[in-house]
Amino acid sequence: MTSIATARLQSTGQTAEKSPGGTEILRVEGLKVHFPVTSTLLRRTLGTVKAVDGVDFTIAAGETLGLVGESGCGKSTTGLSILRLIEPTSGRVVFRGEDLTGLSKRSLRPYRREMQIVLQDPYSSLDPRMTVRSIVSEPLKVHRLYKGAARAERVDELLQLVGLQPEHASRYPHEFSGGQRQRISIARALALDPQLLVLDEPVSALDVSIQAQVVNLLERLQDELSLAYLFVAHDLSIVKHICDRVAVMYLGHIVETGTTDDVYKRPTHPYTQALLSAVPIPDPEHRGRKKRIVLQGDVPSPQNPPSGCPFRTRCWKAQDICAEEMPELIDRFGHGHPSACHFAAPPENGPAVPASVR
Ligand SMILES: Nc1ncnc2c1ncn2[C@@H]1O[C@H](COP(=O)(O)OP(=O)(O)OP(=O)(O)O)[C@@H](O)[C@H]1O
Ligand code: SF4
Ligand SMILES: [Mg+2]
Repeated sequence: MTSIATARLQSTGQTAEKSPGGTEILRVEGLKVHFPVTSTLLRRTLGTVKAVDGVDFTIAAGETLGLVGESGCGKSTTGLSILRLIEPTSGRVVFRGEDLTGLSKRSLRPYRREMQIVLQDPYSSLDPRMTVRSIVSEPLKVHRLYKGAARAERVDELLQLVGLQPEHASRYPHEFSGGQRQRISIARALALDPQLLVLDEPVSALDVSIQAQVVNLLERLQDELSLAYLFVAHDLSIVKHICDRVAVMYLGHIVETGTTDDVYKRPTHPYTQALLSAVPIPDPEHRGRKKRIVLQGDVPSPQNPPSGCPFRTRCWKAQDICAEEMPELIDRFGHGHPSACHFAAPPENGPAVPASVR
């Protein structure tokens, strides 16, 4: 954690809890987001989608936590509910010592400034009828900050911060490429000088050649502004590059978490091992040594999750106990990274990903 981040925390008078990555700014405890499934015809609730079903993690100031897992595992719902853009069903979201879940909309307002989100699709997340200046200055308007010429100057400053030019301010989103649009989204997210950004697949919709530029921008901004990131992603190579720690999510639960180095080197949950086995190896010398684990079937419906371990319907190591008892997320090996598996074990054939990729 950087000294600027520490100074920021001290200036807020916050009591600094420790997180594995440094001084904690966000603590998520027992977070659940359940969506009722209703029938308008029958006028009754038919069931519940358990999109997030008891998630715990912390993020330190200036740190990046990667949240990974297949489609439908609950990553976006987790990100959105931290910002209360979706209301959590239960659990706590503690930001800088304050539990946000019980706050009224009005009391939440100052915290809203400090936590912002960047979405995956820069095409649909920017209003096509608004100029870049109105898009980037909108949060300043809502929070009544930087009036008149000062607001215009602030927008110019933000555009330059993300690698755009003040002349771009009078243009419309359709005049920009995908990468540039994502820069505009990032400028808007930075307008209120936040401490935490939820980045929901921020580069997945971009051309591969542009992805690295946006990832580099995010890294530079993190260094310059001491930002903490919750980085939601599918691409485990990018996660390896940008994240300090990683949490692997499956069917609404975190099944393994730890430092990125440790989890990539010694994954102990079969699901993490399967995900990592699919990471492309650029070095042809190492390519043949890695055994790809192909997962059968899809993620089960969170409306009707399996009993016991949520991964058991696709797990090649499953035993009877897996259907009976939900495994706890605990550190069974003293490696400092917990996993939720009754038969957690490091990969049999050595590191999951060769050193050339790690
Ligand atoms: N408003 C909603 N009502 C009902 N179910 C929902 C709602 N929002 C999300 N879900 C369901 O919750 C589960 C988790 O969705 P979520 O979008 O959080 O997954 P994700 O991990 O972000 O997936 P992806 O990688 O595809 O973005 C999915 O099964 C999804 O269909
Ligand atoms: S608890 Fe059982 S089913 Fe779940 S991951 Fe471990 S071995 Fe597989
Ligand atoms: Mg998502």
